[in-house]
Amino acid sequence: MQHSGQDFAGRNALVTGAGSGIGRAIALGLAARGADVCVLDVSAAAAQETAAAVESLGRRAAVLVHDMGQDSVVEAIEAIAGAFGPFELLVNNAGISPKNSDGRKRMIWETPPREWRLVVDVNLNGYFLALRAVLPGMMQGRRGAVVNVGSLAGLRYSTIAGAAYATAKNAVAGLTRQAAGEVAEFGVRVNCIAPGRIETGMAAVAGGSFNEAIRESTPLRRLGQPQDIAEAALFLLSDAAGFITGETLVVSGGRGL
Ligand SMILES: NC(=O)c1ccc[n+]([C@@H]2O[C@H](COP(=O)([O-])OP(=O)(O)OC[C@H]3O[C@@H](n4cnc5c(N)ncnc54)[C@H](O)[C@@H]3O)[C@@H](O)[C@H]2O)c1
Repeated sequence: MQHSGQDFAGRNALVTGAGSGIGRAIALGLAARGADVCVLDVSAAAAQETAAAVESLGRRAAVLVHDMGQDSVVEAIEAIAGAFGPFELLVNNAGISPKNSDGRKRMIWETPPREWRLVVDVNLNGYFLALRAVLPGMMQGRRGAVVNVGSLAGLRYSTIAGAAYATAKNAVAGLTRQAAGEVAEFGVRVNCIAPGRIETGMAAVAGGSFNEAIRESTPLRRLGQPQDIAEAALFLLSDAAGFITGETLVVSGGRGL
């Protein structure tokens, strides 16, 4: 990853789902540019591994093992902010995308109601809960930036992701606009990234031939890497994006144009 100085030095970041994939790449990108990072993940081992990597870049790290689908995450984030220091940067990224055993998307008629609620709880309600926990501190400090990781699947009909996932991700773009409008006067910005297909554990579920077909139908002729999303997130979190708020940036190699 390309680094441009230490422009996040002295700033605390909270990254959800930072144990692997896109969240891990964003956490390490922030640390490389000077931020101290709280790594939140439901997997303790994954969170600890990312936190160790943050520390090996010379930054402070904290680990918060929690399920973003539980309301109690609000108090857990508030408690760790008390010990670690208030967060000026938030990346809402933890997400799940349940598939059928052969990697096919779940059709609406195949989706158990409990699974629909779980997907909405993690992929949408969890983003609200983190915003609720972190925004007051940002508003008080009159400085802050948030990136919500949505999905291209939330903006177009998706042949890859099920309706629960696509609907939650569509709502993430709406939540981004609403949050941005509410906190703009406090000097806080909120933006969304809509990734196309990115090579992470989530995409691996579908299998090689499926991903090969996506690669061929992507104008830039490759799948995305976590670093592609991290670069976009670091830009939106940085002061270089100081006049951008409420927007959704598609990062998809041209897929979905
Ligand atoms: N990979 C893609 O093709 C792609 C495309 C568009 C959007 N996205 C979005 O990017 C984000 C990151 O996905 P990824 O591809 O890096 O996936 P990933 O599976 O590699 O990483 C997701 C991380 O979130 C954590 N997590 C899952 N459920 C959680 C919960 N309830 N509470 C806390 N942590 C939880 C996991 O343990 C994991 O570390 C997700 O929001 C996903 O929807 C991914």
